Amino acid sequence: MNYLYKLILVISILPAVSPAQTLIDQGRYIAQLANCYSCHTDIENEGKPLAGGRAMETQFGIFYPPNITPDKETGIGNWTEHQFAKAVRSGLAPDGSHYYPTFPYSAYKNISDADIKALTAYMFSLKPVKQMNNNHNLSWFVSRWVLPIWKMLNTDQGSNKSDKDRGAYIVDTLGHCNECHTPRNSLGILQMEQKFSGNEDLSAPDISSESLKDWSKEELIDLFSDGALPSGDYVSDHMAEVVEYSTSTWKPADLKAAIRYLQKQKTN
Ligand code: HEC
Ligand code: HEC
Repeated sequence: MNYLYKLILVISILPAVSPAQTLIDQGRYIAQLANCYSCHTDIENEGKPLAGGRAMETQFGIFYPPNITPDKETGIGNWTEHQFAKAVRSGLAPDGSHYYPTFPYSAYKNISDADIKALTAYMFSLKPVKQMNNNHNLSWFVSRWVLPIWKMLNTDQGSNKSDKDRGAYIVDTLGHCNECHTPRNSLGILQMEQKFSGNEDLSAPDISSESLKDWSKEELIDLFSDGALPSGDYVSDHMAEVVEYSTSTWKPADLKAAIRYLQKQKTN
């Protein structure tokens, strides 16, 4: 066998995409399922992707989601993989302090080890963006020291790491749909016994299986693909963003699994 022939043979059996690239692509998709972009990008002012977010107005004050690009000075460039996983799944900062639950780690806590690994690979593959964080502007009664208590009171949002139901995992864990569609009490604790019955403060409607039972599968696919409602209108504000940056990017099999779960899940 001549040398050139051997060389061609070797090149032709090399995988077209490296394993590292595959992991990064998987992580990008996890980020889309979990919609990290929407909060961590100042979309309105054409901010750089994931370099720090828009002002999030809540009943507790204004939150500014931080820069999560791997910039060493202003982002998370100096973090270890372990610190990143702990922030996303446990709401704990590298210095041990607790994050505010506006960061939906109470849903993300059930993200699987494989998915966290891919998400980390993706996040650290991004181009670092130097952009200072804004300080949150919160009401006087809100402070980090109450957060451990809040975390103890706030219940699990449903699916767990060993959940075999892909739809439940996408809706409850990655998609964090409970965060807006399940009511909260005055302490901001999700009322899981009324799962998906809607949150008036956020104008988020009831999406329990009971309320979705008259929707055909096609109507739900339309809604999650481009925001179209059966009435001919389109969803607005928060949901429009969820559709644009998250659900419209879901793979068809994942979308179907999510819809199957939404139409079947029991309210408790
Ligand atoms: C609903 C809005 C929202 C979504 C969605 C969201 N985050 Fe955040 N995130 C926040 C807020 C608000 C904070 C700041 C919390 C605090 O200061 O206590 C934060 C903080 C963080 C931090 C800590 C950064 C630091 O400098 O300490 C990381 C890391 C992070 N988010 C990653 C992610 C990833 C990865 C995703 C997607 C899987 C995601 N976030 C989705 C709102 C969000
Ligand atoms: C940031 C808050 C927020 C999140 C997160 C969110 N939604 Fe929504 N959703 C809304 C709001 C607000 C509306 C009402 C929009 C309108 O009527 O224009 C809505 C509307 C809907 C509707 C239409 C219901 C109807 O009767 O018109 C469905 C279905 C829905 N959401 C499902 C989901 C699913 C599934 C998820 C998780 C992937 C999700 N939403 C995540 C805020 C949210």
